[in-house]
Amino acid sequence: GAPVDVDLAPIQAGQIVKVFWRGKLIFVRHRTADEIKSAEDVNVATLRDPQADSARVKPGHAAFLIVYGNCTHLGCVPLGHEGEYKGWFCPCHGSVFDTSGRIRQGPAPTNLPIPPYSFVSDTKIRIG
Ligand code: FES
Repeated sequence: GAPVDVDLAPIQAGQIVKVFWRGKLIFVRHRTADEIKSAEDVNVATLRDPQADSARVKPGHAAFLIVYGNCTHLGCVPLGHEGEYKGWFCPCHGSVFDTSGRIRQGPAPTNLPIPPYSFVSDTKIRIG
């Protein structure tokens, strides 16, 4: 599939935009300062799928989290800004993800995966 470019400039802090790449749903989330801080403040050793927030974003671009948009349990689409950690909440069986897209509660075994992407400028990413 062809790469997909996403213009980040119109995406406000606190907003999640849905895009498709290779037929897969992807969330592009512009995180607020509080959302970044809560993702960074987690003790990684306590996580089911231990990953630092810094390993899930590009250096210097912590404001933008890009994740696949299907729950790692059985594939439902989780709801943004919901659940205990205000990351995502999956209405199908109750998986709770934090503002880094990491699994925190419920049956999903792993974090929301990160698709391949790069910054082509400060305000544009290329997925794929
Ligand atoms: Fe999300 Fe089951 S599909 S919790």
